[in-house]
Amino acid sequence: MKAILCASKNWGIGKGGDLLFHIKADMRFFRSETEGNTVIMGRKNLDSFPGGRPLKNRVNIVLTRDPSFAREGAIAAAGKSEALAEAQRHGGEVYIIGGGEIYSLFLEDCDRCLVTRVEAAPEADTFFPDLDESPDWRVAAESEAFEEDGLKFRFVTYERTR
Ligand SMILES: NC(=O)c1ccc[n+]([C@@H]2O[C@H](COP(=O)([O-])OP(=O)(O)OC[C@H]3O[C@@H](n4cnc5c(N)ncnc54)[C@H](OP(=O)(O)O)[C@@H]3O)[C@@H](O)[C@H]2O)c1
Repeated sequence: MKAILCASKNWGIGKGGDLLFHIKADMRFFRSETEGNTVIMGRKNLDSFPGGRPLKNRVNIVLTRDPSFAREGAIAAAGKSEALAEAQRHGGEVYIIGGGEIYSLFLEDCDRCLVTRVEAAPEADTFFPDLDESPDWRVAAESEAFEEDGLKFRFVTYERTR
């Protein structure tokens, strides 16, 4: 299972319920990785999508503790084991797509993290664990630096060391 995210220099991933960056190349990468597969997300992340609608061409599993949650095109899961069972039922690759609570919950189940690393550090209120500091993770591959709207970024693949 893989986590996919876009993080600032200091591993910030969100503020005020929104993303820190809107980089088109990152959105394209996200779409090409996840389309045709299963994505697991938190209810707050789903609410941040346009119209609160699930992502097209993907199986959308949404974690929520709200038993009355119902959203067309989304499968509700009351916890981690239910989400994993649903993902298994649908097959394909499984991507953890956030937000902060959901990344933290599933990081131990991931063997790879696909991180778009942006060379900027705007204020954030939601963070991803610092994989550079963790002995459990190492950089397996790193792209060249790209630039869009004055923001420099790289696509970095982290893999689990143990
Ligand atoms: N940079 C990136 O790549 C990236 C990607 C995704 C999101 N984000 C950002 O991350 C922020 C949102 O993250 P967040 O941490 O606030 O929220 P979140 O992880 O998206 O969702 C949290 C919600 O998930 C549900 N949940 C969490 N743990 C659960 C469990 N064990 N069992 C059942 N349900 C559970 C709860 O929903 P209920 O309240 O309904 O019970 C909880 O309120 C936003 O700013 C967003 O833009 C960034």
